[in-house]
Amino acid sequence: MDEIENLLTESMRIFNGKFDFILHSIGMSPNVRKDIPYENTSYENMLKTFDISALSFHRVLQTAYRLDSIREWGSVVALSYVAAQRTLSGYNDMGDAKALLESIARSFGYIYGRDRKVRVNTVSQSPTATTAGSGIHGFESLIDFSERMSPLGNATAEECADYCVTLFSDLTRKVTMQNLFHDGGFSNMGMSLRAIEQYQKSFEDCNDK
Ligand SMILES: NC(=O)c1ccc[n+]([C@@H]2O[C@H](COP(=O)([O-])OP(=O)(O)OC[C@H]3O[C@@H](n4cnc5c(N)ncnc54)[C@H](O)[C@@H]3O)[C@@H](O)[C@H]2O)c1
Repeated sequence: MDEIENLLTESMRIFNGKFDFILHSIGMSPNVRKDIPYENTSYENMLKTFDISALSFHRVLQTAYRLDSIREWGSVVALSYVAAQRTLSGYNDMGDAKALLESIARSFGYIYGRDRKVRVNTVSQSPTATTAGSGIHGFESLIDFSERMSPLGNATAEECADYCVTLFSDLTRKVTMQNLFHDGGFSNMGMSLRAIEQYQKSFEDCNDK
């Protein structure tokens, strides 16, 4: 808490007052890192996952609210993933952490919007090859699968940044308490032709199809 308070206080000093937006972009699961499966979790690790990946968002919001760091009509965004709604093999306790993260956006979004006219949203991004992403078991296949499933293809990190900028702009002043999918359409797909074709290829050498 002290570090976050220091960060916000110093930022206010540098910006000479309140600022317009905050991006929360932190995620880490010791269980994923150490390859400990969900069904045999270490609760100590799981609590760390929730603390780092979700409660840190509450801490930032609570501190910003207390210090009144964000201007009226300012915007807070946190990065999430569709594993909050759907089970994806290997995503482990990060799915639970993302569900909590999105819930915090709604709960604090109500309070921050009501009291200070600050909006709070989560952006649910396509799988993206980053340090955190690459720690997920079978990540390459996940990227390939969601690329084939998404009519517009996976959203890149740069496109994610562009989308976040729209949420920091005045053009989205009344958007709050939302989880917004930035995933090329993946979250509303069941099965695509491209994914079926690839799946069928896997049966070519298989006798019991
Ligand atoms: N990469 C993906 O496929 C993907 C998809 C959807 C959402 N996201 C989310 O995007 C956000 C950014 O992740 P990324 O993919 O850019 O990976 P990344 O590894 O580049 O970023 C993760 C960040 O979390 C920080 N972090 C980890 N533990 C911390 C701790 N204890 N205290 C403070 N900071 C800590 C790291 O320093 C790093 O900057 C995360 O919330 C992640 O879950 C990623």
